[in-house]
Amino acid sequence: MTINKPKGTEDLIAADALTWNYLRDVADDLFTVYGYQPVETPMFEQADVFVHGLGTGTDVVRKEMFTTLSPDAYAKVAAGEADALKAAQRLALRPEGTAGVVRAAIEHSLVAQGGTPAKLWYAGPMFRAERPQKGRLREFHQIGVECLGAEDPAADAEVIIMFMRYVEALGIDRSSIRLLINSMGDDACRPAYRDSVSAYMHEHLDELCDECKVRADTNPLRAFDCKNERCHEVMEGAPKISDALCDDCRAHYAKVKSYLDAQGIAYVEDPRLVRGLDYYTRTVFEVQVVDGLGAQNAIGGGGRYDKLFETAGGKPTPGLGFAAGFERLVLAMQACGATLPEPVRPDAYVAVAEPEVAGAAFALTQELRDNGFIVEADRQGKSLKGQFKQADKYAAPFIVVVGPDELAAGKVKLRDMSSHDERLVALDDVTNALAEALGYSVGGCGCDCDCDGDCDCGDDCGCGCGCDCGGEKAGGEQVGGAAEKA
Ligand code: HAM
Repeated sequence: MTINKPKGTEDLIAADALTWNYLRDVADDLFTVYGYQPVETPMFEQADVFVHGLGTGTDVVRKEMFTTLSPDAYAKVAAGEADALKAAQRLALRPEGTAGVVRAAIEHSLVAQGGTPAKLWYAGPMFRAERPQKGRLREFHQIGVECLGAEDPAADAEVIIMFMRYVEALGIDRSSIRLLINSMGDDACRPAYRDSVSAYMHEHLDELCDECKVRADTNPLRAFDCKNERCHEVMEGAPKISDALCDDCRAHYAKVKSYLDAQGIAYVEDPRLVRGLDYYTRTVFEVQVVDGLGAQNAIGGGGRYDKLFETAGGKPTPGLGFAAGFERLVLAMQACGATLPEPVRPDAYVAVAEPEVAGAAFALTQELRDNGFIVEADRQGKSLKGQFKQADKYAAPFIVVVGPDELAAGKVKLRDMSSHDERLVALDDVTNALAEALGYSVGGCGCDCDCDGDCDCGDDCGCGCGCDCGGEKAGGEQVGGAAEKA
């Protein structure tokens, strides 16, 4: 019997896993420039972290949370004693990253009152029991940032700009996406706005879906997210938050926009953008793909959540952030023809002509790898012909053939797989010969000064030797300790 992956999940195999690593690497490089540090929080938390954090009226909490139980707790539930579970026993797989990061920030006092902001970024799987479709999974991956302790509108603009830079760095064409922004107000202006939306919905109750009829009293702003076409049309006529903002929220929003304008970041103001989670206050934003992703067109979004710390039992602390969905970013990258990483091919394949030289070939393989070359070798006992075929499959540009006669003379054969040229190379010169054949330079620095990597600069200059080329002459990615791509 074969068992398949659960509905709504994907195996990230080879190129997909490389792409995930790539998206994280690009994020790491970029977010570090903005002063963000990595954070890892558990993939499951007490369910209350999300119930209170995201809001009981949200779809995520009401319908999409995977709850999970320890065996003890499960036994209680199975015995019909679910009510006897303590809060700490009610666990849920994280549907998003923000609530867990805020829980951790409170638990570890990461943001002293009035102290320096904590700027954290994360990348990992999230879980929502949604109906799977293109770009919508039950286990998906998010890359997110949270800036905790900053209330200045410059922080909002900075986070939005960082998101746009990230999307650009991935090669997603600016013309293929739109940035939507809005302000959702705060405790001073939102309650009255909420009441006005509720009153409007009551006037149109007959036209709303059953869920929105309930939302009219419980959580009217969620009706802006309703997927029902008729509700959507009705909510088009609802009062706009932009007409209801208090002076402070209006000023904050205006400042955010002025920073974006000054940086030439184009955006569309959408007074009905409320986002699907209840913790937002003031600035919210979303980046959507213009065409091609259908209903799942949001590649990421975020906003400010100045009340979330208090909701989670912490001291008043402003916060904001965003998260982007890996799977949707990849779809957007593919649609733009952006370059996705491909599995690396080996620099060389070390082949064994006769079993008695297997030890020498093993040592040579190891030596080449220690020198930074990507090397493949047979580990299935193949014939020499079989090894050549395998080298071909790996698309290795060179084969180093270790044979008894050549080895007795202290040599190996180096074969160019495209020209089929072969030449004998001294065993102690294989590193240099292979580097030369591949067009790599050899030495600690890879630049074309003549220090041979012997200088003692401790890599201070960036290229690895003590010259002052700044690494530019190296002109390529470092392959390892000794060899460097030219
Ligand atoms: P969110 O809008 O719920 O926000 O999710 C952010 C992104 O995660 C979405 O734009 C989408 O790309 C991706 N995503 C969400 N659900 C799925 C799914 N079922 N399948 C595939 N991708 C999905 C948040 O999660 C907030 N925590 C963002 C945030 C951070 N706000 C402030 N800080």
